[in-house]
Amino acid sequence: MSFTTSERISSIPFSNIREIFEEAKRMEKLGSDIIHMEIGRPDFDTPEHIKKAANLALENGHVHYTSNNGIMELREAIAQKLWQENKIKIDPENEVAVSIGCKEAIFNTVFAFINPGDEVLIQDPSWLEYQYIVKLAGGIPVPIPLYAEDGFVMNPEILRQNITNKTRMMIINSPHNPTGSVLPKNVLEEIASIAIEYDLLVISDEIYEKLIYDDSEHVSLASLPGMFERTVTINGFSKAYAMDGWRLGYAAGHVELMKPIVKMHQYNTSSATSFAQYGAVEAYKGSQEDVNQMVKEFDKRRKFMMERIKAMPLTESVNPSGAFYIFPSFKKTGLSSVEMAKRILTEVNIACVPGSAFGEQGEGHIRFAYSTSMEEIKKGMDRLEEFLVRF
Ligand SMILES: Cc1ncc(COP(=O)(O)O)c(C=O)c1O
Repeated sequence: MSFTTSERISSIPFSNIREIFEEAKRMEKLGSDIIHMEIGRPDFDTPEHIKKAANLALENGHVHYTSNNGIMELREAIAQKLWQENKIKIDPENEVAVSIGCKEAIFNTVFAFINPGDEVLIQDPSWLEYQYIVKLAGGIPVPIPLYAEDGFVMNPEILRQNITNKTRMMIINSPHNPTGSVLPKNVLEEIASIAIEYDLLVISDEIYEKLIYDDSEHVSLASLPGMFERTVTINGFSKAYAMDGWRLGYAAGHVELMKPIVKMHQYNTSSATSFAQYGAVEAYKGSQEDVNQMVKEFDKRRKFMMERIKAMPLTESVNPSGAFYIFPSFKKTGLSSVEMAKRILTEVNIACVPGSAFGEQGEGHIRFAYSTSMEEIKKGMDRLEEFLVRF
């Protein structure tokens, strides 16, 4: 049997992170004690009160398709949250669509607005899905390099220099995967004025907004003057509420932006899982104590790892102020990030992600997720130090 795959899917690779994951799994099966710092998901369980709400919904027979936009209780909870925490005013009736994770929301938005040949500005490095979703839609991802010297904060001038008459959209992610950088308000204001000047649509992926440390502040692009009508805000429950397996996210924005997104969502998945949506209502409306505890624990791990990494030879790292990643440079070792990640895995059994997986600017860096226990992190840092001494 031989079926030719579509050009669309042939044109994009399987993620090159897979190689590392698979090798880690193979080694684990053979008895190696692998420390997992590759996975970008919380190691905590979903808070009990959220699970109870979903269980109750299941018991009460909430097992059918919901409205395309999601159950009204959740849309109202999202509208209230966006207003109180993000200063974004949306109508729960038609300005939010609940989706199967942020990923589906981003997919729907890109497919709703991007035509073949349209250019989309994307931070480099960045979550690798953005560029492949854009390519699947026939668009052209245009990388906007971020530099360690700038703390991996986007330089709006570089953004401007990359705009052509084909640029339609930019995708902004803050707090940022993989570097942990947070865009300050003054930079967001400059990005906003460029978006307005060139009439660009913006996807603002704010999935890590609650994982923020020190005195950093999360500002939503859509809350800035003139931005609501051109910004699709993406958020969800995977990270802050430890609900990644629930697959729940949403897109929110002006009704005219949401109409084509909902149309895409309708043909894509119809609606997000019914009883999971009831859990999400509780996540937003119930106690935030578990979230606060998780953030405190992430912060402890971040500080500990940064102290250890800073003291190691041949590494340089920007202090991350958001998300749960550290993105040190190992350029001084002379190894590529893929070689480095493979050696760290095979020689000291730490699974991590080569920076080049996130774009050209990630070359020479490694992403370590601190979404694993403090005990594992301590062991991992000892091993990493022992490894670096070998150079
Ligand atoms: C920047 C960013 N956006 C979105 C997601 C995925 O979100 P979801 O689980 O809601 O699809 C991730 C997951 O790693 C991410 O890093």
